[in-house]
Amino acid sequence: MKDAHSRTSESRRLDGTAPPDQKRPSYQELLDESLDQTFPASDPISPSAAMYADRQIESARDERDWSLAPGPKTPQKAASPTPTVKPAPADAITLLKADHAEVAACFRAYQKLVDAGAGGAERQPLAEQICLLLTVHAAIEEEIFYPAARKLLGADTGLIDEADIEHASAKDLIAQIRAMGPDEDLYDAKLKVLGEYIDHHVTQEQDEMFPKLAKAGMDTKAIGAELGARKQALIAEVTEGSEA
Ligand SMILES: [Fe+2]
Ligand SMILES: [Fe+2]
Repeated sequence: MKDAHSRTSESRRLDGTAPPDQKRPSYQELLDESLDQTFPASDPISPSAAMYADRQIESARDERDWSLAPGPKTPQKAASPTPTVKPAPADAITLLKADHAEVAACFRAYQKLVDAGAGGAERQPLAEQICLLLTVHAAIEEEIFYPAARKLLGADTGLIDEADIEHASAKDLIAQIRAMGPDEDLYDAKLKVLGEYIDHHVTQEQDEMFPKLAKAGMDTKAIGAELGARKQALIAEVTEGSEA
């Protein structure tokens, strides 16, 4: 229990009549003091720092925290320049093998549609794509690759002769497919036979003809450039024709 003297001192401090050294700090003064101790004005996160925003703030932490040496500079990724150099044309064998793989994938996709019972509207565009790929491929081989092969192989043209005959048979089948509707009898069967026929032809080219030509020293780079250019031109012709 407080004695009479303390009660008197307390009431004097409360009513403001106590001497300055005995004055009780107000709640606000205590709060401000506490805030200043917790968040010194030199601390950039201090709520009261805004009051001193125009002052040059310095503290011992500046040395330690704010003078970190910059890390290694991350090299800035250069903006991709607009390519000015055309990619090198594919080697002839690479180009022809890529064509073979593409059409084989289309034949597999077509068979999947057939197995799934897809309607004619779904099957016909893929069948047309197969016919187009094969027509362009056969044309560049007949116009550029086979003549170069004949020149190189001299009298040994058995493989090229067979290939030419196989192309003629394939083109005949392609013409029949193009003349049909996708829901007509034998449409799918003709596609299947064409696929098997092309598979046999491609195996002969890749396993026998291409290695023979490589061994004979065919300039596959130069012929690849010719094949690539002619292929683009033929595709452009077909595209323009279908847009007209
Ligand atoms: Fe061929
Ligand atoms: Fe081929």
